[in-house]
Amino acid sequence: MSSAPDTTNSTSGAGSIRSLYSDTGRYLQSFGAFLKDSDEHEAIINWIKTYMDEMIVHLGGKKDLRLMSVGCGDGQVDLVVIEKLRNAHFQNIHVTLIDPSGEQTDRCRTLLQSLTTSEEGQAQVTLTFKTTSFEDYIATFEASGEALPKYDMVYLVQMLYYVKNPFSVLENSIKSLEGTGRLFLIHVSGHSGYAKVWKKFGPRLPQDDNCNYTTADDIRKLCDQLGDHVHVDQTEIESTFNIGSDLRTSLTGQLAVDFIVEAAEFVEKAPEPLKSEVLDLIASDECTKKNEKGEMSFNNNLSAITMYVR
Ligand SMILES: C[S@@+](CC[C@H](N)C(=O)[O-])C[C@H]1O[C@@H](n2cnc3c(N)ncnc32)[C@H](O)[C@@H]1O
Repeated sequence: MSSAPDTTNSTSGAGSIRSLYSDTGRYLQSFGAFLKDSDEHEAIINWIKTYMDEMIVHLGGKKDLRLMSVGCGDGQVDLVVIEKLRNAHFQNIHVTLIDPSGEQTDRCRTLLQSLTTSEEGQAQVTLTFKTTSFEDYIATFEASGEALPKYDMVYLVQMLYYVKNPFSVLENSIKSLEGTGRLFLIHVSGHSGYAKVWKKFGPRLPQDDNCNYTTADDIRKLCDQLGDHVHVDQTEIESTFNIGSDLRTSLTGQLAVDFIVEAAEFVEKAPEPLKSEVLDLIASDECTKKNEKGEMSFNNNLSAITMYVR
């Protein structure tokens, strides 16, 4: 996952193992290693660029676009989306960016600021930030009786892990689409190594990290329940995470394990036999490919799910 949600300090019910997000220093170390040793960011960006090419054709008749980014984080994904679209033929692009973390929306605002000044041939971009959860954003419209604003594109990238009711978030995202609007979401693949580890050990890992351990297969099932009027497609995005050759004693391996199980200092703190069982699964063919030097590539695949109302 590309950046952490805000969480509070807490300890795990699973013995002495704490959520990775409860230890900011360790989280930053582990996340930094993940960014360096995985191609996730590049894989997501490549998929989005191709999808934006399709969107430019699909939304060809429009001059003005309205987009909504749900769980924008620090804006890395929005930067790619907006840069691609503003260099197409559109005149105005308005983007609503929603995230409950003030720290993240501040970073996002700083990152995207330069896009609001357009050059010849580029669309004029305006940004509206909502520092709130998507659920609360929807609730304010419901409370006031005001109709939900409609968007030409709604996207949720790596954020559905952190919501209590993903079905309701999906339902309200679909309701926010303009007639010809499209939705895309990116989520960890049901074929990834994470899926194998989370499904087998999820209940024995820290339960206090606000993560629902869903995979794209779980999300796909929810999308299919939205009704026959919603068309759903799914594409696998291949990605790998180089986790070294020794999960027990090397720092590379230990930080990778922490990121995968979302627990701080798992190798040092987890009780046996849980530790050995988890490490064996991560190193097994189910999750990992090994080269001739014994270096392991963890399956970091993602899934892109796209939807529209027929
Ligand atoms: C892993 S980050 C992904 C950020 C960004 N989409 C990306 O891919 O780089 C997840 C983001 O979702 C946000 N988030 C968590 N719960 C949310 C909710 N209920 N509504 C909207 N955003 C939420 C978090 O604050 C965090 O910034």
